[in-house]
Amino acid sequence: MKSIILGTGRYLPSNVVTNHELAQRMDTNHDWIVERTGIHERRYAVPGVDTTASMGTEAAKRALDAAGLTPQDVDLILFATLSPDYYFPGPGVQLQHNLGCRTIGAIDIRNQCSGFVYALSIADQYLRNGAANHVLVVGSELHSAGLDMSTRGRNVSVIFGDGAGAVVLGRTDEPGRGMLSTHLHSQGEHAEELALLGPSTRDWIPEIFQRNDPEDVSYFPRMNGNFVFKHAVVRFAEVIEEALTSNQLSTSDLRLLIPHQANLRIAQFIQQKLGLREDQVYNNIMRYGNTTAASIPIALSEAFDEGRIQKGDLIMMAAFGSGFTWGSALMRW
Ligand code: UT7
Repeated sequence: MKSIILGTGRYLPSNVVTNHELAQRMDTNHDWIVERTGIHERRYAVPGVDTTASMGTEAAKRALDAAGLTPQDVDLILFATLSPDYYFPGPGVQLQHNLGCRTIGAIDIRNQCSGFVYALSIADQYLRNGAANHVLVVGSELHSAGLDMSTRGRNVSVIFGDGAGAVVLGRTDEPGRGMLSTHLHSQGEHAEELALLGPSTRDWIPEIFQRNDPEDVSYFPRMNGNFVFKHAVVRFAEVIEEALTSNQLSTSDLRLLIPHQANLRIAQFIQQKLGLREDQVYNNIMRYGNTTAASIPIALSEAFDEGRIQKGDLIMMAAFGSGFTWGSALMRW
């Protein structure tokens, strides 16, 4: 028995924010953003309407509907996010409550851009060893409320967007179908190259208030963009090749690579490096920006709805990001 995705769903907030709108808030411009990242617009959560948990809940409902399942069928929740509603508890329990699931386990995954792939890997273990029949995996992010929207933060803030994606996994005994492998990696020596350092237990909220320093940017995400970019292109290619090699497959066998939507230039670089055709790589960062743990399940759900994933297709999901963490999940649909 192998694990397999039975249904996908996504939720994008209604608020579309163009590059031109960002240019009214900071010193940036449409051409720079498109040239360096490929992004034309992103979605921002509607205040008072969308939260990380609420967006995840909506995406999860749609994934359950697509699978023909109900919340009562779910045996385990895995919720990946770096932008939870609360510092604690994590949003997994909110999802359990919002959906009206039984008092099942709800695990929160803290692996940023790789969070969804990390979560798939855990779901796969539970399903293959028979500890669960159906696992709900959700990636949801609400970045917009926590970005530095001044010119100081422009190298980070123009990239990120909000949204959620979800999948329901079950088991299959159809020969050849299902999750073929997952591979996870980390390299913590680069933890601070893409990070949000405060508030934290090392620099708690009273200290930040006491400093009252308008130049203090420790509570905004920071990114050493060039450094991250250089590592991303190497690790993405490595982890994709690792998955193919361990399954004695090659790039020509791939129907679709769904990379974490970090930067269109990164995806194009990988496509070229691996010799993939354009139709073998799915990109939607142009419309949503980088939605971190939500980007792969949003893309997966969109690709499926567009008919670009059919039964029997070989689908590669690969991610790289803060940690650094990276990983792959290879599935025969
Ligand atoms: O999802 C997690 C993984 N994250 C990633 O994979 C992101 C990886 N990194 C990147 O995608 C790119 O490094 C960025 C898109 C973030 C930045 O692109 P870059 O080509 O590396 O630009 P840069 O940081 O080297 O900056 C080039 C110039 C600088 O000006 P000077 O020093 O050359 O005068 C920046 O100040 O562009 C300037 N700049 C901007 N200009 C207009 C930086 N951000 C902006 C901006 N608008 N938003």
